[in-house]
Amino acid sequence: MKQPPNLLQRVRSTVPARDRTRLLGQQPATIWLTGLSGAGKSTLAFALEQQLIALGHACYVLDGDNVRHGLASDLGFEREDRRENIRRVAHVAQLMNDAGLIVIAALISPIRADREMARSIIGADKFIETYVCASLATCEARDPKGLYAKARAGEISSFTGVSAPYEAPAAPDLQIDTGTSSPAESVARIVGYLRDKGLVRPAQRTNRAAGT
Ligand code: ADX
Repeated sequence: MKQPPNLLQRVRSTVPARDRTRLLGQQPATIWLTGLSGAGKSTLAFALEQQLIALGHACYVLDGDNVRHGLASDLGFEREDRRENIRRVAHVAQLMNDAGLIVIAALISPIRADREMARSIIGADKFIETYVCASLATCEARDPKGLYAKARAGEISSFTGVSAPYEAPAAPDLQIDTGTSSPAESVARIVGYLRDKGLVRPAQRTNRAAGT
């Protein structure tokens, strides 16, 4: 049963955020990738993670398909369940940011209001909304998991773009068109953006993760 809020108190860490920033040598942020299934969010998320690790940054991917195996394994794809999925992932991202990590969240997150909820949980100063954009026709032609075919055949209900809405961001911080850019080009654009914001080191550092 849910605890009444007056029985819960916050306990604050005595470690200030700047100590974690200094320890890790980075500013935390959450790069929130939104887009249709098959748009390329997961591909981009893991390629970006690899690049950031190679640059010496501590980061972690929260991918919709993965969290739905554990943290969100009790949730489906109706509107309220998606909202709860996004709320949970946003809280995990906020905790990871608090721990000093850069987070890459890859979720369809189709409803604008739900992404705004994620922004307010994570903090507007740390939330980087990135629209991974590919037309429905492109995603359907790719259909990497065969889900569009199943959705068209009526075997999957509430499938985003087919029988459930996708509300594209009106003013994302970044827009990546995976129909025209390769994963390497897309990663370079995001890293360039993060660099301009001072979130990524200016030059490539030699370290073990980079294999140099
Ligand atoms: S979200 O809408 O709640 O943000 P999330 O990103 O976690 O979605 O999960 C999407 C993944 O679940 C898709 O990549 C796809 O593999 C799978 N999936 C299964 N059923 C559906 C559905 N009805 N709509 C969209 N994706 C689905």
